[in-house]
Amino acid sequence: MSKGSIDTTKPIISLQNVGLRYNGGPEVLKDINLEIKAGEFYFLTGASGAGKTSLLKLMHLAHRPSRGKVKIFGHDLDYMKPDEMATIRRKIGIVFQDYHLLDHLSVMDNISLPLRISGRNEKYIHKHVPELIEWVGLKNFINTKPKSLSGGQQQRVAIARAVINNPEILIADEPTGNVDEDMAKKLLFLFLELNKMGTTIIIATHSTNLIKQFRFPVLHLKDGYLTKE
Ligand SMILES: Nc1ncnc2c1ncn2[C@@H]1O[C@H](COP(=O)(O)OP(=O)(O)O)[C@@H](O)[C@H]1O
Ligand SMILES: [Mg+2]
Repeated sequence: MSKGSIDTTKPIISLQNVGLRYNGGPEVLKDINLEIKAGEFYFLTGASGAGKTSLLKLMHLAHRPSRGKVKIFGHDLDYMKPDEMATIRRKIGIVFQDYHLLDHLSVMDNISLPLRISGRNEKYIHKHVPELIEWVGLKNFINTKPKSLSGGQQQRVAIARAVINNPEILIADEPTGNVDEDMAKKLLFLFLELNKMGTTIIIATHSTNLIKQFRFPVLHLKDGYLTKE
């Protein structure tokens, strides 16, 4: 699982003079300049509506900026071919604020999905997925469908699905917003373990507790501007 060969000096995510507006409205992100290098760990904070989700969407190529340049793994979004974009997306694990689980699939099958898409065999899936399900405390819900789970449980399914494929970048949008403090800390330790193996991590959070405890650098959004603390 180690990513020992990764070049930690080159930016893995680079935004230059980026602005974002929706449908001709005002800019919600302004003059964003940001370089994240392989293996770094960042928190992203800012009041509700400050643009955290929008910024994360630029990073995982779900949006294009209205101006400026976005480069992921050194590839310029302006010149990216569709197949190249698909390859890059597969290297990014995403925990969405609203989970994005598939209602007709069990916990097991939701979490297995990225592995099936990347062609892993069933033997591998049935060895590794239950281990992670146990780790996130959902052993008794392995065959349950998401709709029967609480918000916090769905959140843990979404986290397990985002990390199962050992992504190079993990982007998590308020991944602990719906779990208690003990579980939030436990999930942060899971992210920390991934980070130690080389995964670059960006987590949007409101939790000053987590930020204080884990002491990673903080990106702060206010009035569309980004500062580093
Ligand atoms: N799809 C969208 N269409 C129009 N406006 C949007 C859309 N998504 C977000 N916004 C607006 O952009 C601003 C930033 O939103 P968002 O990125 O969701 O902030 P946060 O995640 O920090 O709460 C808000 O004013 C929000 O209303
Ligand atoms: Mg948000």
